Amino acid sequence: MVANAMGPNLGGGRGMRPGTGAVRRGVDLDRSQRLPKGLVRRVWRQFARPYRGKLLQLLFAISAASALVVAPALLVKRIVDALQRRPADAVGVVTDNALLLVAVAAVTAGLSLWQRYLSSEVGERLIYDLRRQLYDHVARMPLAFFTRTQTGALVSRLNNDVVGAQRALTGTFGTLTANVVQVAFAVGGMLLISWPLTLLTLSVLPLFVVLAKGVGRRLQDLTRESMQLNAEMNTVMTERFNVAGAALVKLFGRQEEETERFGASAARVADVGVRSAVVGRLFFVILAFVGAVGTAAVYLIGGRLALSGALSAGDVVAFAVLVTQAYQPLAALTNAPVEVLTALVSFDRVFEILDLRHPIADADDAVELRNARGEVVFDRVSFAYPSAAHSSLASLEHGLAPVLDATPGPQVISDVSFVADPGQTVALVGPSGAGKSTLLALVSRLYDVSAGSVRIDGHDVRDLTLASLSAAVGVVPQDPHLFHDTVRENLRYAKPDATDAELEAACRAARIHHVIAALRDGYDTVVGERGYRLSGGEKQRLAIARVLLKNPAIVVLDEATAHLDSESEALVQEALATALAGRTSLVIAHRLSTVVHADQILVVADGRIVQRGTSAELLGADGVYAELYRTQFAGT
Ligand SMILES: Nc1ncnc2c1ncn2[C@@H]1O[C@H](COP(=O)(O)OP(=O)(O)O)[C@@H](O)[C@H]1O
Ligand SMILES: [Mg+2]
Repeated sequence: MVANAMGPNLGGGRGMRPGTGAVRRGVDLDRSQRLPKGLVRRVWRQFARPYRGKLLQLLFAISAASALVVAPALLVKRIVDALQRRPADAVGVVTDNALLLVAVAAVTAGLSLWQRYLSSEVGERLIYDLRRQLYDHVARMPLAFFTRTQTGALVSRLNNDVVGAQRALTGTFGTLTANVVQVAFAVGGMLLISWPLTLLTLSVLPLFVVLAKGVGRRLQDLTRESMQLNAEMNTVMTERFNVAGAALVKLFGRQEEETERFGASAARVADVGVRSAVVGRLFFVILAFVGAVGTAAVYLIGGRLALSGALSAGDVVAFAVLVTQAYQPLAALTNAPVEVLTALVSFDRVFEILDLRHPIADADDAVELRNARGEVVFDRVSFAYPSAAHSSLASLEHGLAPVLDATPGPQVISDVSFVADPGQTVALVGPSGAGKSTLLALVSRLYDVSAGSVRIDGHDVRDLTLASLSAAVGVVPQDPHLFHDTVRENLRYAKPDATDAELEAACRAARIHHVIAALRDGYDTVVGERGYRLSGGEKQRLAIARVLLKNPAIVVLDEATAHLDSESEALVQEALATALAGRTSLVIAHRLSTVVHADQILVVADGRIVQRGTSAELLGADGVYAELYRTQFAGT
């Protein structure tokens, strides 16, 4: 969707159509119904001001076009009068006014094009500004935000609400101007012809205003509802149509239920569509009917006045036209406050996101970590995952509750201290759910500690710039993500200017080169969710190669548990030995070879370090490690 068309005489209907976007009843309505103070000023300051020159021109073009709408009525009046009264120069008058009609049409056409250009120019730039800012803002949110929010809702915010906000600025703004100017000129023309008749025709307005207002409100509610329902539908699709979601549906044989569920959403969208179509039409029907009654009244009373000689025939004809031209914009204006509010809802929803804080961001006095040695210290670290209220927005979550839970999660890490000297390999072992992955996520600040501190080379990680921290810490997750792109581009993500030779060297070191070379397209093979499928172990080795290209001082690795027996353990071991040589490495170990070669083993259970030492030391002391060693590593 692009900027709304704004003809000069669209009157009542503009800006009242139910749009598509996203608001959920009960979740967002409370916020959107009462818009925050200063919203308009903020819209102006933050987004409209740069375009004030163009907006001014737009205002002028709209006003001029709207004023011209009443011109034909007055020209026709002169023609009709000339035909009736037949003055000496009747032919000349008719010709002149006919030519003027053409001129008015030509100017109107020109203005209309200019106006459209301006409104789309401003509108599209605004969309661009909003999208860019939103994207950047969202991208800087901490990981906790993405673990909670629904991608569909977020995408909807960046698509539909941004367009809604743009419409608010160019559409509603233009509509208002056009209507005010048109009413002014139409009523002005009517007054010129006959003020008593004018008063008479305007006397039906109060009734009309009441009717139009009621219908307008209803229409606005329906619009909001439809936006919300559309967003819900989006969410269902984005969740179910990605590979993992689709597989789940198949594996559990839930095809029918899913279709039912989607169908129910779609049916509600259809229902609301019908209701808003009828209510919308009701609005026009009332408008048309009142217009017709007004016109009839003009002929009835104006006709008598003309017969008595108080008015000319041309006056009556022109007046009848002007009446409809005044009613239309007046009808639209009765709903202007509602319309403006509706339009501003989108801006509010955009600001709602732009106002989210970035809890994990560079401190004001953040320092650059240069030439990291790679000493990692955990000093009495405790951690609980942040509460929903602290990491997300109700309107972006699936929940039905309008308010998010603010109680933080249970403490997952308790009082953990250890030191990894530069170049050391520290292995973390322990049962699933013990908190090993969580512990390592704290090193690269995917989350911030709740208490204590994580220090690299003596700096609290919260005092370092995020850029230098990410350069110093390379992470190989358990199930690494590859973008839908070639192997080459996925590797270059770590180092955009890497040469092919560098890529190959990294892949050889990670023992993955021979696998890639054997593919038909080699390094140009497209991988990722919809590309060539590497096995879990291959993916991890590719991720190791990616980290090698980045060349960080510290490597954090969550060993793949998948495909353990199918892959040569020696190969992985070699890859690791090369990858980790000369770097500090924190490894969640599932392989015996990794554990026995570690300088230090930390046994984690229930968020605490329960044992530490080398493999030999720990085997000597009968405990959790010895137990794990027997059950977990014995077979491999
Ligand atoms: N994103 C998250 N939000 C809330 N709790 C989480 C999250 N990730 C993990 N947890 C919880 O933290 C605990 C430790 O998980 P994790 O660090 O993944 O354990 P491990 O890697 O040792 O198997 C578990 O109880 C898990 O349910
Ligand atoms: Mg884990």
